Amino acid sequence: MREPFVIAVDGPAASGKGTIASRLAAAYDVPMLDSGLLYRAVGVLLLHRGGDLDDVAAATQVARDLTAEMLTDPAFRTREAGEAASRVAVHTPVREALREMQQAFARRPGGAVIDGRDIGTVIAPEAPAKLYVTASPQIRAERRFKQLVAQGEPVTYEDILADILKRDARDGGRADSPMRQADDAVLLDTSEMTIEQATDAARRIVEAARARWERS
Ligand code: C5P
Repeated sequence: MREPFVIAVDGPAASGKGTIASRLAAAYDVPMLDSGLLYRAVGVLLLHRGGDLDDVAAATQVARDLTAEMLTDPAFRTREAGEAASRVAVHTPVREALREMQQAFARRPGGAVIDGRDIGTVIAPEAPAKLYVTASPQIRAERRFKQLVAQGEPVTYEDILADILKRDARDGGRADSPMRQADDAVLLDTSEMTIEQATDAARRIVEAARARWERS
């Protein structure tokens, strides 16, 4: 039996991976999982319960209790949520508690698109299509800044650039960091691309992977 056609889209904060992943999901008519949302939900729900982001046991309990139905809150999309997410994401037991939900999604027979940081390395290492989407920190900060302003958040570009640099260091700062390009992932640097160009490039990468998968 062939593996389900899973498309793993990894990359740093605000690289464009979320938009690319949702366009790929629409193009191939498969469901998408934004794995960052799981970490965002754990961070925000923990804070709502008065918990401490450094409390590994409390964060792990929130992660274990998380269900797909709990992921719709717009509070998970804010700048603070992103920060809280990256704080709880450093706890290995939290990552383990969130692993099964993500791997169950990757096993769906019809295939799936999953975006995150460790999809190609940890969650779905056998995924037939893997992309690692990146862009310079300045470009990513500019994109995230525009997105947050559109959501009505009172932020400055400088704050967002500082956030991005801090998040890159936290997400990728340890030797066992999950934020890593899988050896067999195709690198897509979107710094000089519009979202349309980036999506087209992603489509070409996935088409090549799909042709290989169909022959397998
Ligand atoms: O992608 P997004 O900005 O929503 O992710 C928020 C944070 O969640 C990231 O900065 C990272 O620390 C964490 N994350 C992770 N593994 C994933 C997805 C997100 O550690 N697969």
